[in-house]
Amino acid sequence: MNAKLENISACVFDAYGTLFDVNAAAAHCADDLGDKWQPLADIWRTKQLQYTWLRSLMKRHVDFWQLTTDALDYALDTVGVSDPALRQKLLDLYLQLDAYVEVKDVLTALKDAGLKTAILSNGSPDMLTSAVQNAGLDKLLDVSLSVEDVGIYKPDPSVYQMALDHFSITPQEVSFQSSNAWDAAGAATFGFRVVWVNRFDQAPERLPDQPDFEVKTLSELPGILGITA
Ligand code: LAC
Repeated sequence: MNAKLENISACVFDAYGTLFDVNAAAAHCADDLGDKWQPLADIWRTKQLQYTWLRSLMKRHVDFWQLTTDALDYALDTVGVSDPALRQKLLDLYLQLDAYVEVKDVLTALKDAGLKTAILSNGSPDMLTSAVQNAGLDKLLDVSLSVEDVGIYKPDPSVYQMALDHFSITPQEVSFQSSNAWDAAGAATFGFRVVWVNRFDQAPERLPDQPDFEVKTLSELPGILGITA
């Protein structure tokens, strides 16, 4: 198969929503939450992201675990659930999110082809370690890079720069994958080659730069890189 993205040396992945199912914690509590589980998941995620941007603008950084907890409290309040045991269960589950079904096979194919692999995420180091180990991905990733090293959230350019500094490569050697269209746009503006994993059938963002490719799942990535199964 011919590569559509050439001269790539590292595949760098967003974590939440791209490798790990951000809906999984609330979905696993569907018995407790009834038909509120999906609205809760949506509000939790939306508020979590808003807090990353707002705190970055306010220059009042807290780590992603604190911010995820704050966003959950907002979401529970909004859907009218007050249950400390359920709140704790949701937080515990967020540390063990399921990986999407294709992730392990795709990472294995990339490693077999000799590519470097990394997570580049808003997640705190502890959150990322927990998620990676729980999903059994530790041997398939060279490194998990956390925004905690720069103290500001995506899409600040200093976050994307971490991947270049770690691997000593140029932006054009990076294939960056994110399901978050705004993150894909931020990475494209930074100069990465970008694959937008549009898992949620979202409309394209109206932001400065567009991703190079749009795919439905990560299963399409090896083909884009010219890796045959
Ligand atoms: C992350 C968020 C943006 O993992 O999903 O960085």
